Amino acid sequence: MAVVQPTSPSSTTHAEALRSDPRIAEAKRLIAEAVAEHAKSIDDVRSADDSLVPGYQAMLTRLGTARGGAPIWPYLSSGLGNGPYVQLADGSIKLDFIGGIGVHGCGHSDPRMVDAAIDAALEDTVMQGNLQQHPPSLEMSERLLKLATAGGANFDHCLLSTSGAMANENALKIALHHKAPANRIIAFENAFAGRSIALAALTDRPNYRAGLPLALSVDYLPFRDQADPAGSTKRAVAELKRLLNRHPGRYAAFWAEPIAGEGGYYPGSTEFFEALCVPLREAGIPIIFDEVQSFSRTSKPFAFQHYGLDRFADIVTIGKITQVCATLYGEAFKPTGPILSQTFTGASSSIATGLATLDALEANDCFGENGQNIQRHQYFADALDSLAKKYPGLIAGPYGEGMMIAFTPGDGSFEQAKQLMDIMYDVGLLGFVCGSNPTRIRFLPAPAITTTEHIDAAITLLDKSLALFSKPR
Ligand SMILES: Cc1ncc(COP(=O)(O)O)c(C=O)c1O
Repeated sequence: MAVVQPTSPSSTTHAEALRSDPRIAEAKRLIAEAVAEHAKSIDDVRSADDSLVPGYQAMLTRLGTARGGAPIWPYLSSGLGNGPYVQLADGSIKLDFIGGIGVHGCGHSDPRMVDAAIDAALEDTVMQGNLQQHPPSLEMSERLLKLATAGGANFDHCLLSTSGAMANENALKIALHHKAPANRIIAFENAFAGRSIALAALTDRPNYRAGLPLALSVDYLPFRDQADPAGSTKRAVAELKRLLNRHPGRYAAFWAEPIAGEGGYYPGSTEFFEALCVPLREAGIPIIFDEVQSFSRTSKPFAFQHYGLDRFADIVTIGKITQVCATLYGEAFKPTGPILSQTFTGASSSIATGLATLDALEANDCFGENGQNIQRHQYFADALDSLAKKYPGLIAGPYGEGMMIAFTPGDGSFEQAKQLMDIMYDVGLLGFVCGSNPTRIRFLPAPAITTTEHIDAAITLLDKSLALFSKPR
């Protein structure tokens, strides 16, 4: 059958014509105007509206039933926010310094996100998939590769996926396939990699794999101790060498978050990682950096770049803030069999808003030795230091790295951290627990929009929370 040629005299598609239709531009302008108008008074924390509370509570109860357990905290968004502020469906306004655990890099109701999501709504399909992709999928893959190779790292390919866990599964598959039949992994104590069966085996939390089969054999190294960098490096290298001697030829990958995330916001360092990566390289073990949480939060887009580890990065994964997740790897790791695929690569809106997020990070000068991420970290850490002096014994560092910030509340027990987190929630500041022994409270402020004024507002709310926390209970 003959293929029908385009009838239009100009070489443009009908979709291109739709996108440049002035009615679309006008509709977008009106939507942006309406969103800004309705969002503008969401600019400070506020308690719930009494008349909305009963309906809100009823929804929470129904949610608990539907999802098989109460949510971690009573958060149901109204659907509108303004930068780091979000209004909940009970009318309360919170200062969101956790962003769905690092997902909302432009905060709430950002006009650029709304605009990109409208573009995505005009695509012919809601989801993109491996069988049928669109030009923005290509643009996202090429942009991530360009960012990841900017310091000389060796990545040729980028596979999009819908969750950090799936990006990590793909990374593991690539490494295991490359090193078959090696089947052991080296990771760090306190590692968190996601919620699949394989990643539950890798994650260093026995209760996260209760009742699950052990899909992988994993050996753990101690992570860097900020209080004893040289000693902890020595101990980690000694343990690595012991493992390499004990299981020669059995390791398929070294798995590392450059900054421990769920494990408690422990920064790595150039020296620490170099000391481990050199012997790993010599042993021919692929090095995987999991940047699902750390991407976009340091002086460089990737934290492995922040620590100058470009030459060691074989496979890297990202997610959360990029809205669509990805696994990047070099030609040498390209699988020889059809082990990588999935129906969805991402929602059209995830890809469009992910691209807009990358633009917004650049527009806000997030990166660089003296970029916004580093400057705001220092500002935040100094303010936390002042609070630590004001409330001795109630709050202590370390304070993480870049726009991953955490402190240890009280005695470091989970109970005290949870108690303070709940007080903060009631006062209007959203932060979330991480780590164990000690349990910390972390913040993931939106890198593309957070200002020092927002940090001041967060510190004022934390101060108020600590005053309540310090009262005898
Ligand atoms: C470092 C790291 N890797 C992987 C994941 C899993 O990502 P997802 O929850 O999107 O599957 C997370 C999520 O918190 C993470 O922090």
